[in-house]
Formats: sequence, structure tokens, C-alpha cells
Amino acid sequence: PLAKGRTVPGTDFTPVPPNKLDAVSIPDGYAQHVVIRWGDPVVPGAPKFDFRKQTAAAQAKQFGYNNDFVGLIPQDPLGLRNLLVVNHEYTTEVHLFPADQYDPANPTEEQVKIAWAAHGLSVLQTLRDPIGGALRTVPSPLNRRITLDTIFEVRGPAAGSKYLKTSADPSGKRVRGTQNNCSGGVTPWGTVLSGEENFHQYFANADKVTDPAEAARLKRYAIGTGTSTRKWERFDKRWDVPREPNEPNRFGWVVEIDPNDPNSTPVKHTALGRFKHEAANVKITADGRVAVYSGDDERFEYIYKFVSKGKYKKGHSALARRHNSALLDDGTLYAAKFSGDSPGEIDGSGKLPADGEFDGTGEWIPLASGNKSFVDGFTAEEVYVFTRQAADRAGATKMDRPEDIEPNPVNGRIYAALTNNSDRGAAGKAAPDEANPRTRNKNGHVLEWDEERGDSAATRFSWRLLLVCGDPATADTYFGGFPKDQVSPISCPDNVAFDPHGNLWISTDGNTLGANDGLFSVPVSGPERGHVKQFLSVPVGAETCGPVVTENLVLVAVQHPGEDAASSANPTSHWPDGGGSQPRPAIVSVWKKGTFGLPGRIGHR
Ligand code: FEO
Ligand code: CA
Ligand code: CA
Ligand code: CA
Repeated sequence: PLAKGRTVPGTDFTPVPPNKLDAVSIPDGYAQHVVIRWGDPVVPGAPKFDFRKQTAAAQAKQFGYNNDFVGLIPQDPLGLRNLLVVNHEYTTEVHLFPADQYDPANPTEEQVKIAWAAHGLSVLQTLRDPIGGALRTVPSPLNRRITLDTIFEVRGPAAGSKYLKTSADPSGKRVRGTQNNCSGGVTPWGTVLSGEENFHQYFANADKVTDPAEAARLKRYAIGTGTSTRKWERFDKRWDVPREPNEPNRFGWVVEIDPNDPNSTPVKHTALGRFKHEAANVKITADGRVAVYSGDDERFEYIYKFVSKGKYKKGHSALARRHNSALLDDGTLYAAKFSGDSPGEIDGSGKLPADGEFDGTGEWIPLASGNKSFVDGFTAEEVYVFTRQAADRAGATKMDRPEDIEPNPVNGRIYAALTNNSDRGAAGKAAPDEANPRTRNKNGHVLEWDEERGDSAATRFSWRLLLVCGDPATADTYFGGFPKDQVSPISCPDNVAFDPHGNLWISTDGNTLGANDGLFSVPVSGPERGHVKQFLSVPVGAETCGPVVTENLVLVAVQHPGEDAASSANPTSHWPDGGGSQPRPAIVSVWKKGTFGLPGRIGHR
């Protein structure tokens, strides 16, 4: 066994111990700075944040709520200036508003509109302080807010579909807003892809739809029944499914934002399918086409891949951005099928099979290509809009909540976080299999695969589990074969990223091991493969999102600090402002003290 504390480039730090502190805890020798918090100004004219005096007009100019994805787009060759792009996933109104102002049974119209403005994305110009090291936001004409009121262009094979038309948009090609933007990815051409994830929760009364086919489709996506939690349907009928039955079909897409063009109309790409997209990340194929990986984050859902028909043009010019964006409108959409090589040995306990690994082969099952469907009983349009049902029919493998998926820029392999699945092996539910080997999987796992010939256009792959997460002291965990007495405990992997050395970084959501969530590094090759180390932990009630990891800068999104409180009346977290303050979701930069202040190479570019 290797000596404790031995490190590989990029992971040269002393791990942070698991803890329950109301703070961002970082290793000794590192510094941190809050880059931007919910309510801080983004565009000109944004008023100073006032928790007790919120307005929709103010929120539309301020940093939104519950930051998730973080992307950094270099603006100069040195990487001194970068555009910071952030998703604002969702709202919890009992934390968003003062308890004496918000009645959950009777929200005011202004409060509902504040919530719409708190969703979407923010684009911010940043400068790295070359002396202090912090990343700071600066005023810029590129700064932008995108909200649930921003107009999106629908493109690709389902644009204009009869399933997307509503009374407000008879064309089926123009959608107002984006919501539940969870994670995402920066494209090689310098735009941002963002996944519309749990969009179902904002709709009401889907149970009152009587057409059986329509009702079945709504149910497959768990579109909201009865009165919604947020009561938005009282103020805009588009959230009331019986009155606008196609409105739910206008969400659940991968959207693309061009942060370098503040006047650009953002796009919903229908060729990438409609499901609860956690994220979307690009890899260029051997012959120069664009592959996009995306997971559907719900229990027993699928992993997908899109491969474009046309070829990628290198560069970040407006022309290259337009050309490459259009590639995402025509191609083939696949769902993944995993086969284990140790059949009969998977008993749900997490015990390794006799060959020493949870591993096997897999295939990409084509669902549709352009206007051609490969799934019996589905038109191509139906494959794109009702992708879950098409993948059911095609026989894809039901996974334990596929979250972020990202290609490793150094070894070329693809990595997916499977966050957990409390229903695996439950009565009437799918049994454990080699790719999802634990019954009632509480702590999740991390999957690694090699596309055939290392080519993302391939339709076959081999795979293995890198990590089976949890308390390393328990027998049902696996850390890539690394000695388990030397690793940090890790639970519920959610977002993944790579540093420039190809080390995997994992942020967690929902730690079941009695400590706060955090960010962890793990080498994926050499003798240190599987050596998980905790780099930071986040405050009480928070989930760790982002992350971006460069040579000398780490960015994380601290999402929903204090969300475990019943309401803002009794906050459980006072991060980041301290004292008796309300918690505020925020982006934090962390760097090693004394390092020169350029962000350095970004792992995934
Ligand atoms: Fe929004 Fe799948 O986490
Ligand atoms: Ca095996
Ligand atoms: Ca997530
Ligand atoms: Ca999550």
C-alpha cells in the first residue's frame, strides 16, 4: 500500500475532515472569497439587495437564487478576464421571503414574479485579482440575466411540433423562459449548455387531463398534479396543465446561451431529447463531429448521447459559434444499455464479483436521427418530445439517478455520477445489476467508460465502476482498488469536473454520512487511482455545485444553505454574511495562498 498523504499533481493538499460547520471549510494554506451572492447586482441599475424589500424588477437585475452550474469562459489568452456563467436552478419561497411577508397558501402576484426572475442564468464579467488571488465581478456590457421571462428560440427536429404549440405561441417555436437549470457544460466553441431538470414541479392539475395518451405522457414525466406548491397557476394559466396541456412539453430541454453576445436569443435544442436533463457536456468525435452526453436525473432513468451529423469548426468567432450551435439541431440521439460481465454474482450487497470489478460492455441504442425514428410506435417528433417513453421501448438500462456526465480531457474516458437510488431493488422496482449493484443505494457511485476506439461516435463501449461511494469502513464501498483506510468518506456524487491533470473532482448533494456536503478530488490513473480526498465542505443545509477546477483556482456554487430550516423565521445557516443574517446561495473562489493570480488552464477545455 502507498504511504498516506502521497499526492499526484493537482491534489497536493491535506484533506478537510468531514464536519457540520456553517462555513466553507478549505485546506490549510488556501484562501477563499465569495464571488457573488443571491441578490448582488448583475446588470446596470440593479438596486442593493434588501431581503425585506424585494421586487421582481430588482431581482431581474440581480444574481438569481440557488446557483448550480458554474462555467468560466476565457476572454483573453492569459485567462485573466473570464465570463462567469451560472445557473439558478429553483426557488424555495419559504426561504426566499421573510416569514411575516410570505403565506405559502396565498402568495402575492409580486412574490410569484420575483420567483420567476430568480430562475434562469447569470452572465458576469470577472477579473482575477493578480495580487490577492480572488475572482471579482466587474461591470460589463456582457453582463446579463436570463429568467423565466426571456424568449427562447426552439430549434431542431421538434421545433414547431404540434406537441409544443400553445395559445401564447401557436408557432411552437418561441418559449418564454427556462427553469430548473441544474448543471451544464461549456462548449468547445465558447457557449454554455444548460439542462432543464425538475421542470415538472411548477405545473398544476395534470391529473385533470382526461385524454389517456396525454395523461400517460404527463405521468411519465411526473408533471404536477393538484394545486402546485408555488401556486403560479393562479397568475399565469400556462402553469395550469388542463388549460395549456402542451406547456410542460416546452421545458425539459438542453438550452444554449451565447454569453459573448448579450443580444443573442438563447436556444432550446430539441434534437438532444426531452427529459430531466442534469447537464450536457461535449466531446468532439474522431471524425470531427460533436457528441453531447446527458443524464436524466431521476431514479431508474437513462443516460443519453447525441452525435451530430455535421462537423465542428474550430474557434470562438461569431461565425464558428453559429456554425457549431447549428450542429446540435441535426444528428442521432442514443440511449445507453449496460451489460455486466459477472452475471449471477450481483446480490445487491455491493460485494465485488470474483473478477474484482463491477464492469462490462455496453451499447448505444439509436432512438432517432433527424426526422427518422428507430423506435417502434414512435414518430421522430415523439422520440424527441417524449424521449423517456421512447427509451423505455428501446430497452435502455435503468440507472441510479444519472447526474453529471463529463469527458476526461486527459485520458479520453467518460465519467458519470449516479447520485443514489433508495428504490433500487424495492418491491416492483428494477433489481440491482452490475452497473447499479446495490439494493437501496443510499450513497451512489461513479461510472467510467471507454467508447470503442476512444471515439465518441462509437456505438459500443466498455465500462467499470470507479467508486462505490459511502463510508469506507463499510464492506459495500469500493474506491478504485485504493486502500480504503486512506480515503475520505464520500456520499451522493452529483457534479463532476476535471483539473488540467485529468484528476476527477466530484461535488456531492445529500451526504448520508452525518456530515455536510463537499468537493472531493480523485486521481483516475496510476497507483493513486481511487484515492478520494475531500477538498472542501459547504455550510449547513447546502449542496456543493459547480465546480470549476483550474491549475490554481477552484470555483464552487454553494446551493441552498440553510434549506433544512422550515422557513426564514428560524434560519439554520447564516452563511455567508454571518451574525443573524439570512443564508444566501453564493459562488466561492478558492486558491492556494501565494500562487500567481491567473486562473490557469481550465480542465475541460
Ligand atoms: Fe438538480 Fe440532479 O440535481
Ligand atoms: Ca465484473
Ligand atoms: Ca445536480
Ligand atoms: Ca442533485
